[in-house]
Amino acid sequence: MHYPWWYVPYLTAPMLIAVISVLHVLVSHYAVGGGLFLAVEVRHAYRTGDRAYLDYLHGHAGFFILLTVVFGAITGVGIWWTIGLTSPLATEVLIRTFVFGWATEWVFFVVEIAAAFIFYYYWGRLPEKTHTTMGWIYAAAAWISLVLITGITAFMLNSGGWATQPGEQTFWAAFFNPQFLPQTVARTGGALLLSSLYVYLHASLTAKDARLRNMIAARSARPALLGAVLITVGGIAWYCFLPPSATATLQSAAVLNVLVALIFALTIVVFFLIYLGPYRNPGWLSPGFAGSLCLFGIAAFSTGEFIRESIRKPFIVHNVVLANQIAPHEVMKLRQNGFLQSGIWTRAFVAERCPTAVVDNQIDASKLAPRDRLALGETLFLYHCNDCHAGTLGYSAAGPLLKGRPRDQVRAMVERLDDNYFMPPWSGTPEEARIISDYLMTINPARPAGPRHFMKTEGSAEEDTE
Ligand code: HEC
Repeated sequence: MHYPWWYVPYLTAPMLIAVISVLHVLVSHYAVGGGLFLAVEVRHAYRTGDRAYLDYLHGHAGFFILLTVVFGAITGVGIWWTIGLTSPLATEVLIRTFVFGWATEWVFFVVEIAAAFIFYYYWGRLPEKTHTTMGWIYAAAAWISLVLITGITAFMLNSGGWATQPGEQTFWAAFFNPQFLPQTVARTGGALLLSSLYVYLHASLTAKDARLRNMIAARSARPALLGAVLITVGGIAWYCFLPPSATATLQSAAVLNVLVALIFALTIVVFFLIYLGPYRNPGWLSPGFAGSLCLFGIAAFSTGEFIRESIRKPFIVHNVVLANQIAPHEVMKLRQNGFLQSGIWTRAFVAERCPTAVVDNQIDASKLAPRDRLALGETLFLYHCNDCHAGTLGYSAAGPLLKGRPRDQVRAMVERLDDNYFMPPWSGTPEEARIISDYLMTINPARPAGPRHFMKTEGSAEEDTE
């Protein structure tokens, strides 16, 4: 409410973040695990004097750099761009809280990029030892980036005592939040597993020699299996250290239950396929087999990220910023002074659109023309609800969710929005609740014919038209 609104039709702006972040995460974990793969395997190839393997690794490094540095960096900037527009207050809080964390992360990012370029472009021109060391510098810097970013994103899911206990508002309390260790373990596992799956796909398509393919399959199987174990251990710890609101959300949404079961099933399938395939029978590594493994892994990963994002409700930063860009301590003030009146941009909008409704710098809603009431109702909807609901059509669209309920119930629901603990508390005056309800009734679909059709008795025909 302190910033202009970014309206993304159908999808809602936060879902755009979700799409870009999932794409980013699928590559950024490879940037970590793939770096480790290159460092370890280049050392092995030098030690055994395996020229053919070195050539393969050279090709793989080119593919790796193209994917991680170009695609990874573009989607990474994409995340900053979308979070800044979608969740400006949350982004501001994260920047302020973690300013040195970000600065440190950028230093490691620069080290990472420099090491990657030297590793690839000076291939064959550096002494073997220096070349391997570059690989290790890259891998270490990439993993430290992962740890730093995880501390910050984990804080969003569970801020621990940071927001609620006096004296706890320090960088370290925020960074070592209850979710930090579980997520670091799970993400490290994810980096190992996902990069093995990419290595398999790449090797099955480009390594022509069967000896080479089998060796790659066998050598990457152990890290992949270890990765699956770390994901499971980290995942269980993640569940144990969720804040109560997230556990409740996870347990009560049917679709999330199905997705959690799906992740478990996919992880088990991937584990056994890797055990049976690359670990026991390296010869199985055909493009079809590697491609299926990769798809299963990507599906499990994307689902996991989606769940992690969706159970933060009603917060975007746990106990610090609500999903609709309001801080919890502002709610009572907004109820008294008015939502439209309190936001810089909403106030300016009202002054521009309906100047007669502004008297002495105060919005007087009783002076609004009906059309203006609807426009302001829509504005309230965008600012207060659109982070989680599209309008008439799209992601969790509010219209269909209203399910043809009558007006008085819609208003009662708005005024007691947080009776449903997924949703933030109502943050406007009673008059604003009436204004938004007027707008909501225009997107509330008509009741389809149903049981009421059969329940008509003499004199109660109006039941149907509610
Ligand atoms: C933090 C995100 C969030 C915000 C903000 C939010 N909602 Fe919801 N809302 C949800 C979730 C999650 C559900 C459950 C959806 C489901 O079961 O499919 C829900 C359910 C609903 C439902 C159907 C269930 C019920 O209790 O009737 C309606 C109607 C609804 N929201 C309207 C609104 C309106 C109007 C606003 C703004 C005043 C709003 N929501 C703000 C997340 C949010």
